[in-house]
Amino acid sequence: MSEAILDDEPPVRSGAIKRHPPEAFEGMRKAGRLAAECLDMISAHVAPGVSTQALDDLIRDFVFDHSALSATIGYRGYRHASCISLNHVICHGIPGPKALKNGDILNIDVTVIVDGWHGDTSRMFFAGDPKVKARRLVDTTYDAMMAGINTVKPGSTLRDIGRAIQAHAEAQGFSIVRDFCGHGLGQVFHDAPNVVHYAEYKDRFGNKHQAPDTRLEAGMFFTVEPMINEGKPDVKLLKDGWTAVARDKSLSAQFEHSIGVTENGVEVFTTSPAGLHKPPYG
Ligand code: MF3
Ligand code: CO
Ligand code: CO
Repeated sequence: MSEAILDDEPPVRSGAIKRHPPEAFEGMRKAGRLAAECLDMISAHVAPGVSTQALDDLIRDFVFDHSALSATIGYRGYRHASCISLNHVICHGIPGPKALKNGDILNIDVTVIVDGWHGDTSRMFFAGDPKVKARRLVDTTYDAMMAGINTVKPGSTLRDIGRAIQAHAEAQGFSIVRDFCGHGLGQVFHDAPNVVHYAEYKDRFGNKHQAPDTRLEAGMFFTVEPMINEGKPDVKLLKDGWTAVARDKSLSAQFEHSIGVTENGVEVFTTSPAGLHKPPYG
């Protein structure tokens, strides 16, 4: 079925957080599952010597072979089926000819469109054997994402998600990136609300920033995608206009799930069917 389910609401971004009807969950399940299967597929190909462009080629072919669309190809001029962010790259790394090296950690982020619904997910991968500290960062980032997701239910708030993520990251001495956030999605790629990954922080001028205490309701769909740095949280954007790096060149990690608020809790649409939740994948 390919008609829009929200007949009264065209798929455009608006300020309001959409509450989707029960039928929409089925659309998100299909899109989320394909995105997760795509990351399952790529896992076996991540190794020292492989270029990130070769990985992106495999991802693009996988998406098209499954009669889906890549949401990122053509998005604001972006030309690839994935973002691949190595080591100190926080997010939106552009696939290219450079080969992976032993010890690299990398995030691979894919967004597919199936019957008009968006499945957006990313995981970390290891090329060879990263150092203990890199592994600890990756592990903490996964646990932080899941702790955030596990707070989600009707009546809880966006700030509850951020509080759980921040507690996990800061307990390990790591920092939360504040310049990028999760987002509503569904028939729109990036929709309301913004999902920040902190509860509150003071900026360098001493100004206090708080996550909105927006209440969650059944039928809301959004991503949780914390970026966590080994060092300081500050971001630098490279001249290509996409690649965001840790200003202090410290390592950065990210995981992302697309989720929906259910009547009594949360449904994760992008869980790995192969059980490849976090590295090492064995
Ligand atoms: N998938 C990314 C996200 O999590 C967005 C990538 S947009 C691109 O929202 F153009 F950089 F691919
Ligand atoms: Co996203
Ligand atoms: Co993404």
